[in-house]
Amino acid sequence: MPLQGRRILLIIAGGIAAYKSLDLIRRLRERGAAVRVVMTAAAQRFVTPLAAASLSGDQVYTDLFSLTEESEMGHLRLAAEADLVVVAPATADLLAKMAAGLADDLASTILLAADKPILIAPAMNTRMWLHAATIANLALLERRGVERIGPNAGPLAEHESGPGRMAEPLEIVAAVEQCLGGGALSGRRAIVTSGPTHEPLDPVRYIANRSSGKQGHAIAAALARLGAETVLVSGPTSEPDPPGVRVLHVETAREMLAACEKALPADIAVCAAAVADWRAEAAPQKLKKKNGPPPTLKLVENPDILATLSKPGNRRPRLVVGFAAETEKLIEHAQAKRAKKGCDWIIANDVSAPAGTFGGDANTVHVIDEAGVEDWPPLSKREVAARLATRIARFLAQKAAE
Ligand code: CTP
Repeated sequence: MPLQGRRILLIIAGGIAAYKSLDLIRRLRERGAAVRVVMTAAAQRFVTPLAAASLSGDQVYTDLFSLTEESEMGHLRLAAEADLVVVAPATADLLAKMAAGLADDLASTILLAADKPILIAPAMNTRMWLHAATIANLALLERRGVERIGPNAGPLAEHESGPGRMAEPLEIVAAVEQCLGGGALSGRRAIVTSGPTHEPLDPVRYIANRSSGKQGHAIAAALARLGAETVLVSGPTSEPDPPGVRVLHVETAREMLAACEKALPADIAVCAAAVADWRAEAAPQKLKKKNGPPPTLKLVENPDILATLSKPGNRRPRLVVGFAAETEKLIEHAQAKRAKKGCDWIIANDVSAPAGTFGGDANTVHVIDEAGVEDWPPLSKREVAARLATRIARFLAQKAAE
């Protein structure tokens, strides 16, 4: 059974789609999952805790202040004992609470305290779904690594139609299986670099670049979702730490290299960071303006992390993947970079300003390996990450079978 031994904490919020969540409990259990249910007060107006308890075969949790539950720190324990938290239906109200970090009932408190992956299945009226507040809340939650399935378009309550219908139980089950990854990379170790590096000129100034870290962070999250024990070595970014990933925060290229080497051995290394190629000899005190010409920066080359990790030897990860950030002759430059650095795959992407790759949410990439060039369609950075993680899992499985 695909979900044998997996533990799902299902939070049912108050919407008419709650009736489908009863079927979801049954479908998850059919696949071997243990399902624990939390219901909000509004959910209990649509379906009864008794129905959910009968289907889950367990007590249903409803009250943050129930003494028996809280004596065991119920809200902390419930998430701690789950592999995945599923919110279905996720109403506009609960999404807003999650985005704002509110914790005024059992469901929202669990969601704030949970350190487990979270999957939401939104369900609401089309106008609520398309409201700027919901769009902003969702974007924020996705940036924090929350996974989403649906909603679908179709007939809604109150004779309306449009996007807002909760995904069907079997679609949610498929998303659960994907989130739990079936462990395609379980037992594997991965190192991912992400973000820019900052190279100090003096105690207050530094050289940097426009990398946001979105792509590298998404890759770390995607590898972790497939079960890889993942270390993310991140330069300074405003991206939140992805769930289920050990994050080492660094500033300079040399710190990034040291952190990567410390994280070895690994099966997989993905170098998505935009590492500064040069550093200056940092002045110990703030450089002062003096009468005369401005100071000249003397730059020295930084270590190349990707090339270092790609060096043959018994500590070389089985698969080393680099990125090629180019503004012209994309494929040609990327192929040359792959050969020069000695990595297995290189992901070429156009970082010229019109492409909007740096800082944006979308990416159009070309995966180059020894077999040739694979052109991927324009995708969100999360989708690029998910596809890459799946390609990596497939490659390692093939190698293991050889
Ligand atoms: N990289 C690295 N360490 C460096 C420079 C780059 O690990 N000191 C890695 C990047 O993480 C990326 C790949 O090398 O995976 C290519 O980076 P890119 O910036 O495209 O190329 P550069 O090596 O910097 O070459 P150039 O600036 O000439 O394009």
